[in-house]
Amino acid sequence: MNSLFRRLNSEPSTAVAPSVLSADFSKLGEEIEAVQKAGADCLHLDVMDGRFVPNLTFGPMIIEAISRLSRIPLITHLMIQDPGALVERFVEAGSDAVSFHFEALEGGHGELLERIRSLGAGAGLAINPDTPLSDIEHLLDKLDLLLVMTVFPGFGGQSFIEGVLPKIVEASRFKNEHKLDFVIEVDGGITRDNASAAREAGGQILVAGTAVFKGEDYQDSITAIRGR
Ligand code: DX5
Ligand code: ZN
Repeated sequence: MNSLFRRLNSEPSTAVAPSVLSADFSKLGEEIEAVQKAGADCLHLDVMDGRFVPNLTFGPMIIEAISRLSRIPLITHLMIQDPGALVERFVEAGSDAVSFHFEALEGGHGELLERIRSLGAGAGLAINPDTPLSDIEHLLDKLDLLLVMTVFPGFGGQSFIEGVLPKIVEASRFKNEHKLDFVIEVDGGITRDNASAAREAGGQILVAGTAVFKGEDYQDSITAIRGR
């Protein structure tokens, strides 16, 4: 994982992270293999608990199975109410980075980020479309990954909220001005048509569920989203 993050910070490049949420779970192994062959840079794993968001997906057991098939880094996106109670399980399952939502906790974000790092994984923080960057500025030096949501979390297949683009620009500027090295991941509603806007704003990892798994040609979609 660190080598992917290092590469993204050392040269202007973009990574594409297919979101497994939109894969066909009746043939998950084949789907994972197909996106790897199609050039995916990492996998995005959406964990939902039916409480923080009104939807339920999968937990560490499925992630552990995915980790046995995967040759690329696994980025876990926790959309759960009590991430502190479960982060160890998600790291043990094979996550290379674990992001939890800023909005899920009233306090203790810094401590949880440190705990994730001490477990040997990248520490990520996710923010909803309506959470301003100013709310998390004090945490940005503790992050390996900032996950900027361009839809409200809960479901795949929603439309990209363009109004979030200025926040991505702001995060990218803040990062450069303060010489920080967190990687900016953009998640929700990415298509081959809006990917360039997300990239130009400063998105370094673009998550794509529907645009990859519901398309005909995974390689063509991944290449178009990456922009090369
Ligand atoms: C939304 C998830 C996203 C989503 C992306 O709650 O966090 O990762 O699966 O899927 P698309 O690309 O379909 O918006
Ligand atoms: Zn996600």
